[in-house]
Formats: sequence, C-alpha cells, structure tokens
Amino acid sequence: MSVFIHESHPTFHLQNDEISYVMRVLPDGQLGQLYFGSRIHDRETFDYLLEGAMRSHSAYPEDDQDLLSQEHVKLEYPSFGTGDYRQGAIEILQPNGSRVSNFKYQGYDLLPGKPVLEGLPATYTESDDEAETLVIHLNDSVSGAAIDLLYTIFARGGILTRSAKITNNGSESFLLERAMSFCLDLPDCRYDWIQFSGSWARERFPVKRRLDIGTTEIESLRGHSSHQQNPFVILKRPEADEFSGEVIGLSFVYSGNFRTSAQVDPYGVTRLMTGINPTWFSWKLESGQSFQTPEAVMVYSRDGMNGMSQTLHNLYRTRLVRGEWRDQVCPILINNWEATYFDFNEEKLLHIAEKAKECGVELFVLDDGWFGARRNDRAGLGDWVPCTDLLPEGIVGLADKITALGLRFGLWIEPEMVNPDSDLYRAHPDWCLHVPGRPSSLCRGQLVLDFSRPEVVDYIHAMIAKILREAKISYIKWDMNRSITECYSAAASPDHQGEIFHRQILGVYDLYERLLQEFPHVLLESCAGGGGRFDAGMLYYAPQAWTSDDTDAMERLRIQYGTSYGYPLSSMGSHVSAVPNHQLNRTTPLKTRAEVAYFGSYGYELDLNRLSAQEQEEVSRYSQFMKDHRQLLQYGTFYRLQSPFEGNEAAWMVASEDLSEAIVGFYRTLSTVNQHFSRVYLKGLDPDACYHIDGMGDFYGDELMNAGLVVSDGTSGKVGEDILPASDFFSRLFILRRCGCKNTESRD
Ligand code: GLA
Repeated sequence: MSVFIHESHPTFHLQNDEISYVMRVLPDGQLGQLYFGSRIHDRETFDYLLEGAMRSHSAYPEDDQDLLSQEHVKLEYPSFGTGDYRQGAIEILQPNGSRVSNFKYQGYDLLPGKPVLEGLPATYTESDDEAETLVIHLNDSVSGAAIDLLYTIFARGGILTRSAKITNNGSESFLLERAMSFCLDLPDCRYDWIQFSGSWARERFPVKRRLDIGTTEIESLRGHSSHQQNPFVILKRPEADEFSGEVIGLSFVYSGNFRTSAQVDPYGVTRLMTGINPTWFSWKLESGQSFQTPEAVMVYSRDGMNGMSQTLHNLYRTRLVRGEWRDQVCPILINNWEATYFDFNEEKLLHIAEKAKECGVELFVLDDGWFGARRNDRAGLGDWVPCTDLLPEGIVGLADKITALGLRFGLWIEPEMVNPDSDLYRAHPDWCLHVPGRPSSLCRGQLVLDFSRPEVVDYIHAMIAKILREAKISYIKWDMNRSITECYSAAASPDHQGEIFHRQILGVYDLYERLLQEFPHVLLESCAGGGGRFDAGMLYYAPQAWTSDDTDAMERLRIQYGTSYGYPLSSMGSHVSAVPNHQLNRTTPLKTRAEVAYFGSYGYELDLNRLSAQEQEEVSRYSQFMKDHRQLLQYGTFYRLQSPFEGNEAAWMVASEDLSEAIVGFYRTLSTVNQHFSRVYLKGLDPDACYHIDGMGDFYGDELMNAGLVVSDGTSGKVGEDILPASDFFSRLFILRRCGCKNTESRD
C-alpha cells in the first residue's frame, strides 16, 4: 500500500494491491475527485482527468471562467450554495442565517494505521502496516469551520474507509445541519443500484434498479438503521454478476438514522453519498468544538458481488468485530422465546435446558419476561430486577442451576426501553424521549428511554452491570423493540434538540462499550424486533445479531441470502424453530430447518421436549454436525451460488481457506415432477484437487466448478440409494473433502 503525494499541484494517490483513489486540489482550492477503481500506476500528474467545460448557466468563483465551475467537476466533500447545484455533503447554518460555505484546501497529514473514532464504532488495525490514513484539511475562512477528511486505505483488498471531522475554529457558534461521512463523484452512471429492503420478518431483500438522471435514495428516520432499509448498498456495472464484473459496496458503520443516495446529474455524473440522515439533524458547535461523523466503508471488486461480499465479510469478521469472541466459533444456543413466550417459571426453563443439554446445546438463553412485573409486553421494561415469583433464587440461582447442567447461561435485555407501567417510569417520567405537553406514541406498549442523558445511561448501566457481576452470565441478547417517535429530550435546550437522534445512538454505543470493557467474556447478540438494527455499527459491539423474527426455513433462506451481501455468516443468528412455524404457519422438515440454520450462528428456538424421541435424536446429530463444521461454516469463504429470489431452487457454499473442505447447501422450495435435471456450479475450489463427496464419489475441483455438481433427484424422475424422495421445502447438504482421487490415475 502507498499514498503518493505530488505537492506541486497537490495530488493524492491512495493505492494498494487492488485499488487506486486519486484526488487533486482544484485551481479554486476545492478538493476534486479524479479516479477511483482498479489499481493504476502512479504518475506526476493526473490532470488529464480534470474535466471541466464552459457551460451556460454555470456559476464561477470570483467571475473567473478560467476556473472550473463547481457544478461540472467531481468533488470530494462539496457544499451546496456556491457553484455546485447538486446535494452537498456539508451544510452549516451560521449566526447571520447564511448556509453558504466554501471549503478550500489547507494541507494534509499522513498517519500510519488508522485512528480510533472516539465514541463511535469503526474498523480498526492491529498494526500500523495494515493501513495508512490520509487526513486532508479544508477550511471555510468566513464561518471559521474546518474539516478533516479521513481516508484510510487498507494494505490488502479493495477497501477504503472514510469519515469527516468538522471543527468550529471561529469565534461564534454555528449549527451543523448536514455532515455526511462519504461522498464520491463517479464519472458515469452506468450502474445498477441494489438496496436491501423489507419490513419486520422479511428483512434485507435485494431490490435492484438502474441508475438514471435524478436521485435514488434510501434512508431511515426511525432512530435505528431499521428493518425497512439497510445502511448498505451496492453499485454494480449492469453486466457484473455474482462472480465477475465491477462492483462497489458502500456500508455505513452506524446504527441510527442514515441516508444513502446516488444522484445522477444531467451529464451522467453519479454522486454517491452516505451519512447521518440530515433530516432532523442539527448539531450545535460552539467555538473550539468538533463533530466526528461515523465511518463509511467502501469495498471495490472486479470479481462480482461475491468478490465484494467476501472482502467485506473478511474485513468485518477480523477488523470490525472485536474482543474475545472475534476468533471463536459461536456456541450452539437454545432460546426459550418461541418455546414459552411469557409463560414460564424456573421449573419449565430447567426442563427445557436439560433436554437441550442432552441434544448437544451449549448455551441456554432466557428471553423476555424474567424481570419486574413483566408478565406480558405491557409492563416492567426498565425494572431490571428478577421476578422471584418466577425465579425464586433470581437470575443468580437460575444461572447456577443452568451452569450445573453443563450449559452456559445467557440473558435477554432491552435496556433502551421503558413501559409506562414500570417503577422506573413512575419514578422518572421525564426519562423517556417525549415532548412536554404532547401525548407520546406507544409502540408495543413501550416508550424509548432518553439515552442522550448520561444519568439515564448510568442508571441502566448500574442495573445491568449488577446482574452481570452477580450471576454467571456468558451471553446477552440485547433487544430494541420499537422505533423512535417524539424525538425530544426534556433535558436539552431548544438549540440542541436536533442532536437528540444522534446523541441517543451515542448513548447506546456508550452503554455497549462500558459493558464490554467490564465484561469482555460476555458474548453479545444484538436484536431489534428481529433484524431491525442489523448493521455494521452494531457488529463493533455485538459479533452476532438476531437476523429476523421470522424463523421459517424457507423465509430464512431468503433473509440470510440477502443479508450475506453485506454481512458475514458468523454474524447471523439462525435458529431451528418449531412447526408449524409461528410466523407463517408453515411446516418444513426438521432437516431443512437445520440445514438452513447451519449457515449462521446456529441455535434452537423451541422446546425440544415436545419433539418425538426420534426427532430429538436427529437434533443431537444436527448439533454434532454443527460442532464438527462450524469453524468452516462461520469462518470459511462464502459463495452465493443460486438465488432463492430468482427461482424454486437455491444454493450456497462455504470453502475453507486452504480449499481442503467445502459444504454446499442446496434447497428447493416446492417439489416438482418430471422436471429438468439440476446442477449447481461450485466456486472457489482447487481445480486440480480431488474432492470426495459422501455417497457420490470423487470429483476434481474443475469438474465440480465447470461440469457442475449433479443435484438431480426425484423431481427429475431420478431415484437411487442416496437420492432422497423429493418433497416440498427440500434441502440437501454436500460435504466435500479433498482426497487422493480414486477415479482416475492422473488427469494428464
Ligand atoms: C423481539 C425479539 C424476539 C424476542 C422478543 C421478546 O421481538 O426479536 O426474539 O426476544 O422481542 O419480547
């Protein structure tokens, strides 16, 4: 990796083994974008890429048309209001009411490694040779605002991260009304935009559209990244597919309101931008104060969407996820939510745990309902004291009993919330987000605690930390079950109300960080009514997330497939649940439920006592399978092979780093008859190695990748010893192990 700097006409070229990113200070002092894409040679000047034109109706600084109009150049961190009529990256409301600013280049710093973003989640390095950070200093002389643009290029892979720090160097305060994390002007718009959209129980389904003149935009204004839109998008060349072609992934490392947009101007230039949603954002900066934006991660690949995802998976698994659990396989857990909902007592829980232990489970998780007056979802949130009617010896006693069974113990919390029917609310009615004098909207019978207030975070921290100190807890499921309304803090003055959405999420991060520091051995799983806060920001604190409240295997296939574009398998909580499924009323085979759930952080969400002895024996085998293969399943290289969004059949696979092993999952939603023969074309194998597949024989890697893995079965009239009769909601796994080939002497 290198950062080339040509001072004479300041040009910055960030280059690593795969990509180049070139910027230049423009004649009017703005920072311009010249190139981003595959690695190119460095040269003294890239000015041939500095395109500008004399065009009608354009504005020029200082009436000098020899300079470039801002409207027609590609910029790095533009502001609206002088000559650029596109969306700006920054907007400052100054004391005189003006929003005009014009940032000029001041200088730069080059830092080894990657600086920490105080109070924010971000990717990191473990040694200085893993990355380099270029900090470019800009200044607006009238307002006194200064910007540090941070660009980190990692030594390997098409990875570049960006953020901005805005400082008020003037004598008067101003309001930062927009401070995006990332802005990139691309020279054309020949891209497909793919976003990951949905709603509760159907999160992160890919939605594709071709960019064209105008603005394509996704956002959240719900106070969390949301089920509806995910802070991750893909731009890909129309001809790019899963395995080839140019793809850009843009991931925002943030869990609150966001906006990601691609604005195409009439000349086809695409402005790609992401950051905190400017709607309802306004941050007061007093003289001398700074604001640090969250980080955006951009991944570039010439190997299609799989290539982009694999780079991102690897980065997030190794340099976003932190702590003791980063390099460990996920324990197999059982969660009592769908087994009991609120209807449990200690005896019932122990009964579930005992059977789970017999079936190979390693961690028992007690979900909602263990505290205060929480017998349903209308009461108790905020009172984090165990209910001794249900648990006579509290969490301490239950955790002891569970651990005595040889299981670890985990606990559900929802620390950001309060029910009006709670001791906490009765004592501190102003501790929730609300507008005095207006009614507050309830959702699931609860209100959102005001985490912009440090005393509220302190109070919740004290309660949760007490339980964690006292009881043997090795896992926490941290839930968040409603979006924010009436975003207003009774503790903040009117000129700070625009900060509350962001301060709220900073309070959440603060609580996470404090708990992580004190309890580093505790594995955290984030959750928000299923997958309503499945984002890169959360992964910095919680290595896994509950992917969706929808546990139906066929729906999970789609949800996990969609999620895999931006997030690694190790981060996806995926459980086998009861049938008929509680969300869809669909009955899928136990085997299929397991074979979908394997591709994630595996567990169970049912009372195993209710299964037949034969099914319990099956479950034990599934747990053992996961134990034998989870290193590969959670940390191998993942390939999407056949999309469940595009047909009746779907497939994916993971391959080990040394290519000695792979597991392929093949799924069919509805059974068919007298149909086509099916093959799945595998990827990422060693073409010259021979792989043994149980029940099928030995095949060279090149055969499996080019001739394909034959998965024909009863649906095409084929039946045989190892070919199961076809059924609806069908699944089949293929385990590949490198071997000495018995089929042929030699391939030559
Ligand atoms: C949310 C979660 C569920 C469960 C319930 C408990 O819906 O997504 O898994 O924990 O809350 O109330």
